[in-house]
Amino acid sequence: MKEKWDNRLAFVLASIGSAIGLGNLWRFPYIAYRYGGGAFLIPYLVALFTAGIPLLILEFGLGHKTEHGAPYAFASYRKNWKWLGWFAIAVAFGVVAYYTVIMSWSFIYFFHSFSLSWGAIPEVFFNNMVLEISDSPFSLGGINLPILVFLILTWIAIYYCIYKGVKSVGKVVYVTVILPWVILIVLIIRGVTLPGALEGLSYYLTPNFSALKDPAVWINAYAQIFFTLSVGFGVMIAYASYLPKKADIVNNAFIIGLSNCFTSFLAGIAVFSSLGFLAYQTGKPVADVVASGPGLAFVAYPTIINMLPFGNSIFGALFFVMLLTLGIDSAFSLVEAASKAGSEQWKIPRLRLNFLIAAIGIFVGLIFTTRSGLYWLDIVDHYLCNYGLVIIGLMEAIFIGYLINTDSFREYISSHSEIKAGRWWSFFVKIAVPIVLLVVLGYNTYYEFRNPYGGYSTAALVIGFGFLVVLLIVAIIFSKKERRL
Ligand code: TRP
Repeated sequence: MKEKWDNRLAFVLASIGSAIGLGNLWRFPYIAYRYGGGAFLIPYLVALFTAGIPLLILEFGLGHKTEHGAPYAFASYRKNWKWLGWFAIAVAFGVVAYYTVIMSWSFIYFFHSFSLSWGAIPEVFFNNMVLEISDSPFSLGGINLPILVFLILTWIAIYYCIYKGVKSVGKVVYVTVILPWVILIVLIIRGVTLPGALEGLSYYLTPNFSALKDPAVWINAYAQIFFTLSVGFGVMIAYASYLPKKADIVNNAFIIGLSNCFTSFLAGIAVFSSLGFLAYQTGKPVADVVASGPGLAFVAYPTIINMLPFGNSIFGALFFVMLLTLGIDSAFSLVEAASKAGSEQWKIPRLRLNFLIAAIGIFVGLIFTTRSGLYWLDIVDHYLCNYGLVIIGLMEAIFIGYLINTDSFREYISSHSEIKAGRWWSFFVKIAVPIVLLVVLGYNTYYEFRNPYGGYSTAALVIGFGFLVVLLIVAIIFSKKERRL
């Protein structure tokens, strides 16, 4: 018998659980901060409605219709497009390899929060005591043992969360979806009542129309939408394949897309009001109160905890528990998607596949546990999301828009939806998504080769595109293998 979700709520919660993750609380704030706060929100919302939700509908439809994981979902229409599904999974795998390292940092911070051991200058603590960061990507400096230990613990937790397949996923998410919301609301109430909060909020909420001319803002907005909605990873295809035949596709896509981005927006309120408080305390402008990189959550937040009048340890512990619960259901959604795809291709029991995925995950993650791990993380994240995810989104739109009968696919979706996928949907899939993504992709590739990302010089190009190419090659090799059922 085919595996199915227990009920509709289980699917919605699991999909929300995959979508809502570190992307909302760790990635969204630093990307928004890096691209000017209020300058980022408009492209972000445009990306949500022009690509995020239409592609979420597409992935749900594809999974629901074919009842396959990503590779066989594409292959069931066009045999030689299996690579696209494997590529999505490979990129997701690359993401989860560093995603779990951020969870490992969160673990470490959870324990440090009881004694507030980051002291007066959390940035120094983060770089020197936790990461023991080296001075460039290629001075690896060996593996940082505590990070590796908690990375392994993180993977064990993931393994146990899914060991019964979607049935257990459906139960775990009740906790992992609801707990973060409760904590977030507590944090917001505290955040907005801090002195200086308003200044941070106005930095976050004042639109800056001149920034719309910068194509880097746009590609980051689209990449962030894909990342945060778990679109382009093959995850939502796999989750939708477990839906009972009677299900609502368009409704679910809107519920998941909107509630996810609303969560990011709330997280932004918490973080930026805190940044305003920090600016007030230090007398610096909000724009340069902390470094706008992957360390933001781990530097800005402890700084703020220090400056709170009371309850410091409790707030710190709550925050890092929230990061962990947010991360875990996103991380296991990838394992679920990858092991579904693997089990359709090879005759390997699911549990053994999950174990294998965890083992390879730890192995690939090793590079991010070295003393240059932060650089690698920053670079790999940039290239996998801005190029990998955007290319997959583009290919999916082209595939559904041009290579198959789009109208009958759209009718299938509509016949399983209360709100119909009207012609607007075809317009996005056939025209808006391909054109916008091609333009931002083209411009940014050109720009990238002239100015490699983040001042890392050519190292960034080699690492970033190198990672992508390796993943693509693995995907192509996998897609040549025949089904052995
Ligand atoms: N959507 C998740 C978030 O916002 C990230 C995510 C999506 C993810 N798919 C994934 C993480 C696959 C790891 C693996 O945090």
